[in-house]
Amino acid sequence: MSQVLRVARRYEEEKERGILPEERPAFHLSSRVGWMNDPNGFSYHDGHYHLFYQYNPYHSHWDTMHWGHAVSKDLLHWEYLPAALAPDCHYDRDGCFSGSALTMPDGRMLIVYTGVVSENLNPGGPRLIQTQNIALGDGLDFSKYEGNPVLAEADLPEGGSPYDFRDPRIWQSADGNYRLAVANDVEGHGGQILLFESEDAFDWNYKGCLADNRNRFGKMWECPDFFGLDGKHVLLVSAQDMLPQGLEYHNGNGTFYIIGNYDPETDLFSEETNHAADYGIDFYAPQTVLTPDGRRVMIAWMQNWDTCNRHRSSIPWFGQMCIPRELSVKDGILYQQPIRELSEYRKDPVFYENLLIRDREIRLEGISGRLLDLEVELEAENPDLLYRKFEIRYAADNIYHTSFSYRPDEKVAKIDRKFSGSRRAIIHQRRALAGDGSGRLKFRLILDRFSVEIFINNGQKVMTATIYTDMSAEGISLIADGSVRISVSGYRLDF
Ligand code: FRU
Repeated sequence: MSQVLRVARRYEEEKERGILPEERPAFHLSSRVGWMNDPNGFSYHDGHYHLFYQYNPYHSHWDTMHWGHAVSKDLLHWEYLPAALAPDCHYDRDGCFSGSALTMPDGRMLIVYTGVVSENLNPGGPRLIQTQNIALGDGLDFSKYEGNPVLAEADLPEGGSPYDFRDPRIWQSADGNYRLAVANDVEGHGGQILLFESEDAFDWNYKGCLADNRNRFGKMWECPDFFGLDGKHVLLVSAQDMLPQGLEYHNGNGTFYIIGNYDPETDLFSEETNHAADYGIDFYAPQTVLTPDGRRVMIAWMQNWDTCNRHRSSIPWFGQMCIPRELSVKDGILYQQPIRELSEYRKDPVFYENLLIRDREIRLEGISGRLLDLEVELEAENPDLLYRKFEIRYAADNIYHTSFSYRPDEKVAKIDRKFSGSRRAIIHQRRALAGDGSGRLKFRLILDRFSVEIFINNGQKVMTATIYTDMSAEGISLIADGSVRISVSGYRLDF
């Protein structure tokens, strides 16, 4: 093991002791210490889910990337393992960027990741040369492959930039060969997803371009994932520098999915539909895993690059993952549901049926707290007279609240964390189109200490945001402007 990794492992073990469990989310994975961004190497190996992540143990801000590591049996309780990768080789000395993992036929775990090296030749400032590299291990300790890098500038098709060539996603195809999808940038065109093929996962050949931005979605594309689901294929991509399109895509970094058909013979992917993967504020760089019982589960970094570097440097950890979400495809839409294991931690059920709220704010007995799972159904009291607005406030007290609201006439759902305690002029609100205009809407709201995730209409759309509201704010209230009939099932989450 290199000295760089040994020092990081010692450091994280010691610093972690200073963080109390209640200072972290209860069931969302957070950085062991220091900074976390993208999920990496999300896989099932030797009876455990493994989740690695972009990690700077030494500071709560982004810097020289390591790979942090955690394992779980149920994707809700996580155990930290020692950091898996450190920037300690000539091809990754300035960072081990994102990548993926799988179990090889001989039982070893193979990691493929991007190594970066800063090149100072450019008068505009240093640029990072990015190559793809391999590490092999037993699920705890990893050795970097002596043949690294396995993909470099010479492997790129014409026009491909060696400075934006990253985030390899590996899988084994039905024919036994391996495939690798890697994000790349083409000057003037924006991102593209390149596909490589290998018989042994070490020796890679370029196969073609799986998808091409053609300046449609932002600029550079990052962190591809690609999988078959419900008779279709889904490409997940996170784009930098997006322009907004109605309420579908928003400014800045954004994750979207393309659903289409993939022919494994020709490796061609034909696109059919595309949508935002999350309509809230904090969601980026997702990866998926196939569970042993056949579910496709997605996890993402629950943050936003444009708003995430505003915290004090003294905080001991920064960055968390969203709740793992079960995926399905229906009518060109990627549906998301919180993993079903969460239901096992529901306690103290409270049910209200057909409650009528008319022009007022109410609190419901038995429903409060910051670890909550709520299912809510709305409809207009009178189908011919729509209510103007429904709002639910949570993490609330006299000073703070965060809200989810719905205006049926506009079909607009909104998440708003303006009063969550934030002292920064950053994005606090986001809106999405939802519902059919009838006033009916169904949603499930999951609260952990520092986040809210709202799954609308069986997960057709999801809105996710982090909140750093004082833990004493734990009120919930429902507000109607007009007349709304609601049903609520509420559970305290017991972790
Ligand atoms: C996405 C990303 C990846 C890169 C990593 C670096 O959030 O920019 O493209 O590998 O973060 O930490």
